Amino acid sequence: MQIKVAKSAGFCFGVQRAVDTVYEQIEKGVRPIYTYGPIIHNEVVVQDLEKKGVKVLNSQQELEALEEGTVIIRSHGVGRSIYEILQRKNLQCVDATCPFVRKIHKIVKKESLLGKQIVIIGNDKHPEVEGIKGWCYTKAHVLETTEQAEKFELLESVPLCVVSQTTFNYKKFKDLVEIIDKKRYDRIVVNTICNATEERQIEARRIAGEVDAMIVIGGSHSSNTQKLFEICRKECRNTYYIQTVDDLDLEVLRSTGLIGITAGASTPKKIIEEVQKGCLN
Ligand code: F3S
Repeated sequence: MQIKVAKSAGFCFGVQRAVDTVYEQIEKGVRPIYTYGPIIHNEVVVQDLEKKGVKVLNSQQELEALEEGTVIIRSHGVGRSIYEILQRKNLQCVDATCPFVRKIHKIVKKESLLGKQIVIIGNDKHPEVEGIKGWCYTKAHVLETTEQAEKFELLESVPLCVVSQTTFNYKKFKDLVEIIDKKRYDRIVVNTICNATEERQIEARRIAGEVDAMIVIGGSHSSNTQKLFEICRKECRNTYYIQTVDDLDLEVLRSTGLIGITAGASTPKKIIEEVQKGCLN
């Protein structure tokens, strides 16, 4: 039996960096440590960190209530008001904002200070979008659907700067920009979509097309893992969706020659390695 593990399986660069940052702080002996929001949407990781003494702050109020400690900003980033609180309260800040998200903060800050209003193509409730809005010095508009883009209207004649949430779908982004363009506003568009998700999908599709069985690892509620599963299933009928090594059906795999493995964005390396070993046992 041979195994091919996708290089892009699991955490993207920004999430890996944020998770590593927390473990580094623990190893350095820093205490108490807080993360502003869960560092990643993976309960195994969050619980492991909790056992090591890392607490999750779930709101600005909880941050305001802190008297001491180190606060780690996760890859999604935060608005400038959170940095102001950290400074005012004299709390240590370790910033693990993904550099690609940081870049968006810089763009919206610069362009809004030049007088442009900002359009963010993304989900208004997502913490990353929350953070981006927090760097706009003029009005920020968030558009996610075609209907919202159709209805979008500026009350004053000001130039616009359009950016995107990093994980937004490129085709949908293009569609929404086209709708805004029909309104003939003076605008610049910066495509700030990160291609980590797309790269993971392209590699999964390629591997699934080459193997006899494909394993997709990820949480049962993870929409990006679900998507990976659908992509792989189209290429390889023997595609299995599992959460951990315990879900592996070794009977089925025993008669398989070449197995491919990929994993959703919140699957830790450790779980991928366990599955890899499990297949070989
Ligand atoms: Fe990940 Fe950063 Fe892209 S967090 S999805 S590498 S924007």
